[in-house]
Amino acid sequence: MSTPADPPVSADSGQLALTETTSGATSRVTSETPSVAPTPGAHPVPPAPPLLGEVATLLGVHPHDLAATLDTSPGARRGANPARRPLTREQSGALLRTALARRHGEHGAGPIAFINLKGGVGKTTLAVNLACRAAQLGLRTCLVDLDPQASATLALAGEPNDETDVFLDVWQQPDDTLPRTLWSIADGLDLLPSSLDNTLLDGQLAHPAQQKRAVAGVCDRLATLGYDLVLIDCPPALGTGVISTFCAVRQLVVPVCADAFSLKGLRLTVDEMNAISDTFSLRPPRMRVVFNRHDRRERLHADTLAELRGRHGDALLDAAPRVSAQYARALATRRSVFGPPRQPVAAADIDACLRELLDLNREPVE
Ligand SMILES: Nc1ncnc2c1ncn2[C@@H]1O[C@H](COP(=O)(O)OP(=O)(O)O)[C@@H](O)[C@H]1O
Ligand SMILES: [Mg+2]
Repeated sequence: MSTPADPPVSADSGQLALTETTSGATSRVTSETPSVAPTPGAHPVPPAPPLLGEVATLLGVHPHDLAATLDTSPGARRGANPARRPLTREQSGALLRTALARRHGEHGAGPIAFINLKGGVGKTTLAVNLACRAAQLGLRTCLVDLDPQASATLALAGEPNDETDVFLDVWQQPDDTLPRTLWSIADGLDLLPSSLDNTLLDGQLAHPAQQKRAVAGVCDRLATLGYDLVLIDCPPALGTGVISTFCAVRQLVVPVCADAFSLKGLRLTVDEMNAISDTFSLRPPRMRVVFNRHDRRERLHADTLAELRGRHGDALLDAAPRVSAQYARALATRRSVFGPPRQPVAAADIDACLRELLDLNREPVE
């Protein structure tokens, strides 16, 4: 398995510029910094910095009010249209962290997992784009890839190889091993990669006590490393890694599409979540259902949304990412939908999801 002296990121990953990379050093809240393998040479055109108007929309406040909280000095600039004003990642990160602390307490939103026992519903697409966006906005973000198919790893960093350390290699000793196993994807975005090795988890997590602690232990360690946000991309199967994830996360995001299979996957996922919470005497995580690939012209989609609303009520996000080739287009150039170039439909929908998943719209900042 890989060592810090033998960074597993392929030279290939030098193409990646999934988030902004030029706005200065990423400061961690702890003095301990993971010895993440650096991305060798970032893409020359980083995404545009976040605009004050975008951050105001995420926070549910008027741009003028948000500008006023930033412009407290007497000589502060009073632009005609503050919404167009670029913010640094540090500025937008500080604003979002304040909102997260107000809404969720000092430990933030807690780990969020993307699960549906059906594949192809958008778990990886949502997790990857949300992680990239959160990092671009200045939140220190870690994406944990638990899927042996390693789609998130492929999307962000390229093929894992035999030397790549993955969750399987770190869960027993996350204090020692986790920091050096993370890959640095871009400023503020790190990845715990996956590979086929994670198929061996079922053999390793045989005991219920191990299942209860494995993912939780890794998440606790990530918290001590100072991440604001931890997103976990799960495989579409009920292995022990997924059971362990159920025990560890604060929120489960279940993407569904307008087909009977993914709705069945949702039902199975809810049943399993409740059964596992009972078995381990844990409070079930908060479930969030995301209707993905929404096509407003399709009657079936309207009917499915109505059914989901009836069954899952508050758990269903208002944001329903529209069906769009922009996700695949961004992925083809190893970018998030925030670019460059920005894919506007998909970017707006990912922002709407981020806002609801982090409850940023619930508590206005000053
Ligand atoms: N809103 C969307 N519109 C169009 N295509 C989408 C959308 N969301 C996901 N996709 C596509 O669907 C496919 C499966 O998505 P993926 O995220 O890999 O699913 P999962 O992780 O649940 O298996 C991918 O090709 C992805 O680009
Ligand atoms: Mg996937």
